[in-house]
Amino acid sequence: MTDPSRTVRKAVVPAAGLGTRFLPATKAIPKEMIPIVDRPAIQYMVEECARAGIDDVLLVTGMGKAAMEDHFDRRLDLETALEQKGKEDLLEEAIALADVVKIHSVRQGVPLGLGHAVLQARGHVGDQASFAVLLGDDIVHPDEAFLERMIAVHERTGRPVVAVMEVPEDQVHLYGVVTSTPTDEEGVFSVTDLVEKPAQEDAPSNLAVIGRYVLPGEIFGVLADTPPGRGDEIQLTDALKTMADDEPIIAVRFDGIRHDVGDKLGFLKATVMMALERDDLGPDFRAWLTEHVAGLEA
Ligand code: G1P
Repeated sequence: MTDPSRTVRKAVVPAAGLGTRFLPATKAIPKEMIPIVDRPAIQYMVEECARAGIDDVLLVTGMGKAAMEDHFDRRLDLETALEQKGKEDLLEEAIALADVVKIHSVRQGVPLGLGHAVLQARGHVGDQASFAVLLGDDIVHPDEAFLERMIAVHERTGRPVVAVMEVPEDQVHLYGVVTSTPTDEEGVFSVTDLVEKPAQEDAPSNLAVIGRYVLPGEIFGVLADTPPGRGDEIQLTDALKTMADDEPIIAVRFDGIRHDVGDKLGFLKATVMMALERDDLGPDFRAWLTEHVAGLEA
């Protein structure tokens, strides 16, 4: 029998960062609100949640981030104007997501690390319910039903599930890295240890944690007892290591397309790829891009 507490209906999206990598754009606008084509990055996250059956998203925010909450609110003056102009498709889009996913927010107050940000969700999620965590810098292609897969693995096992990707060895210092062994299921690993941002020579593997987690409520108690670690911050990786010390946790390998939009180059690539895929923009954009690239000097 499946345990109902493992049914994942809530997600937590840490979004309190200052966005210094995108200054000056992020001086007055949250980095999560910078659009990729025509929708803010945070909307891709919330749409991913909706596709995975999550109907409750808690944003962990900070000062100057109110635009995110406004973005997901209904805006009746805009809806009336769109209706009067007969712009039904835009009207539908403005309403649709707000109807499917309820957005909540809580403030982090002091930036004490990712583990601390997730701990702020304790009151909203509770210690009995499983939940997903999505980090806003990682955007996965909408065709990938990856979060659904992670949720299914968690519902079956009850263990924390992290998303991992093979990264080049000179990049392991940017990630949490796992010690793992393959299981019988393709792309699913049993994780016995994790280390946050190891030096290349100390890394146990090149399987790096990317920004998707499905966690049992039990993690909150562990986080509350986790001392500051790397960078003097409370690390989610360290709390997961504590849980893996008791019993292995699980990693699911992501083999699809993922964009690191926290990085300027990643952001540009995401913009180009997503624009090319759009029915309305794609054909014209492709024609222009092909001509433009052909004219570039090698
Ligand atoms: C965080 C986590 C790290 C993980 C990474 C994925 O680091 O602490 O374990 O690998 O996200 O993007 P951050 O990128 O916030 O420094």
